[in-house]
Amino acid sequence: MREKEFEFIRTLVYEHSRINLGPDKRELVAARLGKRLRARQLTTVQDYCTLLQQDRDDEELAHLIDAISTNHTFFFRENAHFDFVRTQIVPEMLARRTQDRAPAFNAWSAACSSGEEPYSLAITLHEALPESGLWPWKIEATDISHRILAKARAGIYRSDVVEKLPPAMLKTYFQRGVGPQEGNYRIRPAIAARVSYQHLNLLDGEPPFTAPFHVIFCRNVMIYFDRPTQEELVNKLTRRLLPGGYLLVGHSESLTGIRHRLQMVRPAIYRLPPGVTP
Ligand SMILES: C[S@@+](CC[C@H](N)C(=O)[O-])C[C@H]1O[C@@H](n2cnc3c(N)ncnc32)[C@H](O)[C@@H]1O
Repeated sequence: MREKEFEFIRTLVYEHSRINLGPDKRELVAARLGKRLRARQLTTVQDYCTLLQQDRDDEELAHLIDAISTNHTFFFRENAHFDFVRTQIVPEMLARRTQDRAPAFNAWSAACSSGEEPYSLAITLHEALPESGLWPWKIEATDISHRILAKARAGIYRSDVVEKLPPAMLKTYFQRGVGPQEGNYRIRPAIAARVSYQHLNLLDGEPPFTAPFHVIFCRNVMIYFDRPTQEELVNKLTRRLLPGGYLLVGHSESLTGIRHRLQMVRPAIYRLPPGVTP
């Protein structure tokens, strides 16, 4: 791919997703564009750039962002976060729910990829808040990629993706596929129903939620953004937290060097102090 073409793709991707593709990503971008070129039956990256320039309804742009973004995820990734939800966040929020006037426990998986993160959280909350009448809970899950959201909504995973889970958990929360679904597992409908998926570019306008969140997972997405974008995003997420609510980021994503109003509770766990309005 020529420098001019890389610059064009890089700028377009940045403008639409804020994913910051450094010069070291040229090879990676070229490899990922191969799929789009084949899909559009084009032979050169130059032809693909021309197509993007003529792409009035942004349809190909959505495919480009899909092809570029990294969706790597897995069940109970950075498991300490799920332990923290179960042992700290839920008991603390349960004790404060009357004072908070919070009719439900609200969680948001802000870059949910193919669903492993929100479903891990749903399993955690199901076990931490078991009695159905005790306190309702729900999870909002968003991602910029339409393709990956379709996979998350389907909730179907290959056996090698789920077989590392404890057998009792696999049995309780997944259905084993039969016939054409042999070798796959599907998250059980009662757990899947707790998660609402919607498409959202985190950097585009305000998120469409009204109720404040007790916890927001925004993990392993900020690494793709530059510092000003990370700062904008952290402050946008902070405005969606309930006072005393938690923001969980990926373990390699520190908020050092970012201006924000959160307290660090431990690495990758931040909290909006109680009494502070978001
Ligand atoms: C590496 S995955 C992380 C998934 C999960 N949070 C985890 O930690 O396992 C990053 C996700 O961020 C999404 N993403 C990238 N830019 C985004 C943006 N501007 N708005 C919303 N989602 C975005 C990608 O589509 C991808 O699914």
